[in-house]
Amino acid sequence: MIQKNLPQHVAIIMDGNGRWAKQHGLPRIEGHRRGAEAVKRCLKAAQANGVTHLTLYAFSVENWNRPQDEVDALMNLLDRFLREQLPELMKRQIRLRVIGRYRELPESIQARLREAEAATQHFEVYTLGLALNYGSRTEIVDAARAIAEAARIGDLDPADLDYGTLREYLYTGEMPDPDLVIRTSGESRLSNFLLLQSAYAEIYLSRVLWPDFDEAEFKNALSEYASRERRYGKTAEQLVPSTNLTHP
Ligand code: FPP
Repeated sequence: MIQKNLPQHVAIIMDGNGRWAKQHGLPRIEGHRRGAEAVKRCLKAAQANGVTHLTLYAFSVENWNRPQDEVDALMNLLDRFLREQLPELMKRQIRLRVIGRYRELPESIQARLREAEAATQHFEVYTLGLALNYGSRTEIVDAARAIAEAARIGDLDPADLDYGTLREYLYTGEMPDPDLVIRTSGESRLSNFLLLQSAYAEIYLSRVLWPDFDEAEFKNALSEYASRERRYGKTAEQLVPSTNLTHP
């Protein structure tokens, strides 16, 4: 059932694959493999519950520092995920958008991502955002460079710059800002994820380890979100009942 006061954009920090593996006496990579299964469940749950935009933090700019065999395994899982899920995305009319420093990813992954983005670009209702080689600070640096260049060549007057314009230069330019950020595994950090875009997002900290994440926990997050009052700096009395504002 689609509930009232639904977030349009849910962004998830998928955490706890390693701990899940350890708890089950399995290698870390098995935790990631089970994490990829949770990604598929989550994608279905989002669509089934009427969430139109889902962004998943799949690989951060810092994740290159993990042991090489783990990085390779994550890239292999991503490759398999894209190969297997492209027909699903097409069938369920979900657009894929990658956010992050694309060109530093392995060439074979870039090719798959380009193929999947091109094949799904005409879908307008549902979007899956995959954060790959992503970090908020690098994103803001990249946006600042592009803005400075636009100003230098006379395409942009710095005096006209506001958040609405600035956000167009972020990797997430075409997506609405997240309404709800979920982090799994009981950790309570934002870890360089969508820092600017999440300025007014509600945060749901789940104790579930990512490989165990399922529709029931997704719905718990949606229910918690529905019960929160988003004020955007206003007093409770100033809020018009049941108004779901976008960014101020
Ligand atoms: C955090 O768990 C998770 C990651 C660094 C990567 C997320 C990857 C997946 C969910 C699987 C592949 C993704 C796709 C889209 C196919 P952790 O390893 O930091 O866990 P820990 O903190 O318990 O060690």
